[in-house]
Order: sequence, then structure tokens, then C-alpha cells
Amino acid sequence: MTGYHVLEGEELSRLRDPTRDFALDVLSGLSEDHKKLDSRYFYDDEGSRLFQAIMGCDDYYPTDCEREILENHGRSIAATCAGAPLNAIDLGAGDGAKTKILLRALVAMGVDCRYVPIDISEGAIAGLVEKMGEEMPEVEVQGLVCEYTDGLNWLSSLGDKRTNLLLFLGSNIGNFNKPRARAFLRRQWTSLQDGDYALIGFDLKKDIEVLLRAYNDSDGYTAAFNKNLLTRINRELGGNFVPEKFRHYGTYDVFSGAMVSYLVSLEKQDVEIEALGRSFSFQAWEPVHTEYSYKYLESDIESLAAHTGYVIEAKYRDSKHFFVDSLWRVSK
Ligand code: AVI
Repeated sequence: MTGYHVLEGEELSRLRDPTRDFALDVLSGLSEDHKKLDSRYFYDDEGSRLFQAIMGCDDYYPTDCEREILENHGRSIAATCAGAPLNAIDLGAGDGAKTKILLRALVAMGVDCRYVPIDISEGAIAGLVEKMGEEMPEVEVQGLVCEYTDGLNWLSSLGDKRTNLLLFLGSNIGNFNKPRARAFLRRQWTSLQDGDYALIGFDLKKDIEVLLRAYNDSDGYTAAFNKNLLTRINRELGGNFVPEKFRHYGTYDVFSGAMVSYLVSLEKQDVEIEALGRSFSFQAWEPVHTEYSYKYLESDIESLAAHTGYVIEAKYRDSKHFFVDSLWRVSK
């Protein structure tokens, strides 16, 4: 039979297999000369719990800095975006704690605000929708379980004349390298309308000691978060990593301006991964790269906005000048 069949919707999502994708990414990452694992895989249930613990610890400053910014400047952000009913679209919302500060400011200003968290994890969205419904019943919540761009396109297909305020908080942009950050922001731009807004959290370059402490916290949460990747491979892919045979190492790369995280093998060892039907050899002191967290100069932020089609409306800094929430307007 000759013809073609368009795979879409339910049928397509049934064919997607996240465990197979994880296995293939692990296979390609551990097969490289410089071994690596993708930081996207940090966030299983335990990884998300550990990330909450990181955000609550004293050494990891970005969360407190951004909370301070939103508490001090939430009203000003709300005033700028207050002209029309608003979709506050949260990409990578986590537990939504910081977003809530902004939503409170919007509600206080009488803005008709709909909260739209987007995530590919149904569990994350279900939990957040329930929590927000309880804690802020005055705000309409419409969670979306999908890729970010699909969510933005779905919202614009509603044609309900709301201004969008895209939230990409918490320095999530820092986990992209600079070309990928540009591509990401430009992709969102194509799905937004002229006059929409984006509020983006950027962690600034600063004293290297402060950075090193934040990514090697004295409570050991970051080390546990990093090693949890190995535990996840053991559980989901039948690996036999012994996490104690690796150490977490977080260092600052002065050329790229990134905090870089590794797991370093403490001895020569072989690790089998059943789902891949093979084993991987690690030399003593061999590193596995796991994460980049890029830090920004204010001039980097300006050029990023200029190159991706946005106009900077305002920059909000914390009192230590460690962090910036930059409010951009979409220009088309
Ligand atoms: C999610 N992301 C912005 C965090 C960061 O700072 O890069 C993840 C993290 N990694 C280690 N500590 C926190």
C-alpha cells in the first residue's frame, strides 16, 4: 500500500518512551572521550526533593536573592504589565513559591491574572495546580502538560486577547550555554505577540568564592543531588553504580563564566548498565561532566535581549547585586 500517515496527538504521545530516551542519552554521554550525563535527568522525585533542599540552604544564594527581588519589586513588575488581563506563564515553576510572591502583587494591583504553569511532567503540574488552588483561590490556574512552545502556541490559539507574561525564573536560563540560551529565547519569541513580556532570572558573575560555596554547599545537598543521577541510572536502567565511589566536584570555569559540575571516579572501576547491555570503564580520577550553570554580566543580558527580539523594560537587582530579574518586552 502506498500512502502516508501523519503521527500526531494521542497516538504520537503513546509512542514516546522517556526511559528509552534516557537510556540513549546515557549511552551516548558515557561513550564520549570526555564522559557526560545530561543535567535534564537530575529531576526525578528524589532529585526535585534535593533541589528544594539546595534552594533552602544558606550557601546557595540565588533563591534568597530572587525572593528578595520579587518581594521588593513585585509591585513595580505588576504595574508595568498591568494594562490588560494577563497570562502569567511559568516555565520550570518548581514549587511555585517565588511565583506566588509576584502573583500576590498582581492580585493586589487588581490585575485579572491567570496562572499558567507549563511542564512535561504531569505529576509536577498536578501538584502545583492543587497547591496554587488551595493557597491562592482568587487566581485562575490553568496548568499545561506539554513542551513550552506547544503550550504557548495553544494559549495563543485561544484568541482571548490576554497579554502574556512569560516567567523563566531561578536562573534556569543559566543551564543553557550562550548559543542555546539565545535559541531558547528566540523560540519563545516566535510564539509570543508584540507587547507581551518576559521576566527572566539571571545569576550574575561575582566573587568566585561565593560561587564555589553555592555549588559545593556545606550541607552536602549539591553532592547528593549530583550523585542521585547515578542512583537514577541504577533504578531505571539497571545500572550498578556505587555512588560512594564517585565524588561531586563543582568548579568555576573563568573563560566560559560557568560553574561546572562533575562526578569524579575515585578508583578504576567498571559499571554495568543492563538496559544498555554493556559496561563502562572509569579510570581513577576520571570525570563525568553533569552540569553547566552560566553566570552573566549585565552587558551579556543586554546583548542577549537585543539579539533575540526583546526590549529591556527594567532590571531588578537584589541588595548584594548577585542576581537580576530582567523584565523584557516582546518587540515585533
Ligand atoms: C536549576 N538550576 C538553575 C540550578 C543552578 O543553579 O544551575 C541547578 C543547581 N545545580 C546545582 N545547584 C543548583
